[in-house]
Amino acid sequence: MSRRLPVLLAADSEDAQSARPVRLIARDAVPEGRIGAWAAANGFKGQEARLLLCPDDAGEVAEALFGIGKALDPMTLRALADRLPGGVWRLDGVSEDQAELAALAFCLGRYAFDRYTRAAAEPAARLVVPEGGDINRILDLARSCDLVREMVDTPAADMGPLQIETVAREIAEESGATLSVITGDALLEANYPAVHAVGRAAVPARAPRMIEIHWNADRTDLPLLAVVGKGVVFDTGGLNLKAGAGMRNMKKDMGGSAHALGLARQVMRAGLGVRLVVLIPAVENAVSGDAFRPGDVLSSRKGLTIEIGNTDAEGRLILADALARAGELEPDLTLDFATLTGAARVALGPDLPPLYTDDETLAADLLAASGRVQDPVWRMPLWAPYGDALDSDIADLRNDSAAWAQAGSVTAALFLMNFAPETGAWAHMDIFAWNPRGRAGWPQGGEVQAMRACFDMLKTRYPG
Ligand code: BES
Ligand code: MN
Ligand code: ZN
Repeated sequence: MSRRLPVLLAADSEDAQSARPVRLIARDAVPEGRIGAWAAANGFKGQEARLLLCPDDAGEVAEALFGIGKALDPMTLRALADRLPGGVWRLDGVSEDQAELAALAFCLGRYAFDRYTRAAAEPAARLVVPEGGDINRILDLARSCDLVREMVDTPAADMGPLQIETVAREIAEESGATLSVITGDALLEANYPAVHAVGRAAVPARAPRMIEIHWNADRTDLPLLAVVGKGVVFDTGGLNLKAGAGMRNMKKDMGGSAHALGLARQVMRAGLGVRLVVLIPAVENAVSGDAFRPGDVLSSRKGLTIEIGNTDAEGRLILADALARAGELEPDLTLDFATLTGAARVALGPDLPPLYTDDETLAADLLAASGRVQDPVWRMPLWAPYGDALDSDIADLRNDSAAWAQAGSVTAALFLMNFAPETGAWAHMDIFAWNPRGRAGWPQGGEVQAMRACFDMLKTRYPG
C-alpha cells in the first residue's frame, strides 16, 4: 500500500556505509566542544524527544542529536523517525538489547496512511539497524503493525466484511494456512445466530460472515492457540443509533479483527510452536427494516439466550458466537481483541488497554511481555459480583448492563466470560486501536495495541 522506501537498512549494506550518526543524548550530558557550543546556542540539553541537526563546516547536516531525557525509552524513537530529514542514519548509543525495539519504534514512527493522497512521498529518513537487531525479524513485525493500522485507517466503504475476508485470505495464503468463510444466511444453518442477527441489516450489500483460519492443523502434538477479533466494520449503534460524534470514528470498530490477523501473521511467520485457529466475525452494525431490535431475544451458538437491551452493545454478541466456536476446538489458550466499550477509555484513556483474564500465570506472562516490548496493557478485574448487571427477566442474560452506568468495560468482559472456552486460559483485551491526538511518531488514526505484547508472550511460551 505504501510508496515508501524500505525504512531499515542492514549494517553491511552499501548505503549503510554513508550513514550519518544520530547521537542519543541524556539530559545534561551534551558533549563538550564544537557540538556542545552549537547545542547550547540552540537550547538543546538532551530534553526527551528533542532533535537538533548539526551542520559541518560547509553548512550541510552532518549529524543529529536526539534527547532521551533520563534514559532511553526506545519508543521515543517514533518521534525521531517522524522528524529526521531524508537520508540514511545510524543510531549512536543504543545497547544491543535495545536494538530491536529501537529499530521497530523507528518503523512505527514512520507510518503514514497514504492510500488516498496524491502527495508525493517525501524523501524519508532510513535507519541502519543497530548491532544486535535482526532486520528481517524487525521488518516482519513492523509490516504486521502497519497492516493493522492500514486496516483500521481504511474507511468502512473500502473495509467491509468482504475486504476483511480478503486480507485474511492473503495472510493465510502467505503462510500456507487454510481459510473458510460462512456468509449471509448460511450463518444460520452453521449455527452462528448472533453473528447473523447483528449483521443481517447490511444484507445483501455487505453480508455478515464468519472467517476461520487454521494453521498447523495436523500438528496435534502442539498446543492449540485461538485468536479471536471483533470485526464490526462500521458501528452505527444499530437502531440505538449513535449520535454524530460517537459514530464519527466507528470505521475503527473492526480493530480487534485487524489485531487478530496481525498477531496471527506474526505467529505463523515466526513459526511458533502452536497450532493456530483465528476466528473473525465480520459484520456491519447497520440500520434497516431488518435490523435486530431492542427487546429482541437472540439465540447464540452456545445455546444461551440473550435479551437485547441495546443494539449498540453488538460486539459482545458476535464475540459470543466466535468464543463458543473456539471452545468447541478445546484450545489451550484463547486471546481476544475488541474495541468493545467506550467505558474502557473512561477508565484508562486511549493509550492503555484493559486486559482481563482470571489466569494468574497468563496475566503475569502478558504483563511481563508488555513491559519488555513497551506495549502497555493494564489488568482489570473480572469482578464476579457485578455479573448480576447482565441478568435478564426473560432470557439467560442481557447484552447491556441494564441500569448500570458504571464499570462498563468490566461488565462487557463478564459477558464474554459466559462464552469463553472452558479449556485452557483466556484473555480479553478491550483495545481502542486509535491515536486520538496526533503527535510526532504517533499520528492521529489507527494504532496497534497489546498485539506486540501478546506476540512476545507467545514467543516466550511457544518458541518454534
Ligand atoms: N464499538 C463500541 C465501543 C467503543 C466506542 C469503542 C467508542 C471505542 C470508542 C461498542 O460497540 C459500543 O457501542 N459499546 C457501548 C456499550 C453500551 C451500549 C452497553 C458503549 O461502550 O457505550
Ligand atoms: Mn456499539
Ligand atoms: Zn462496536
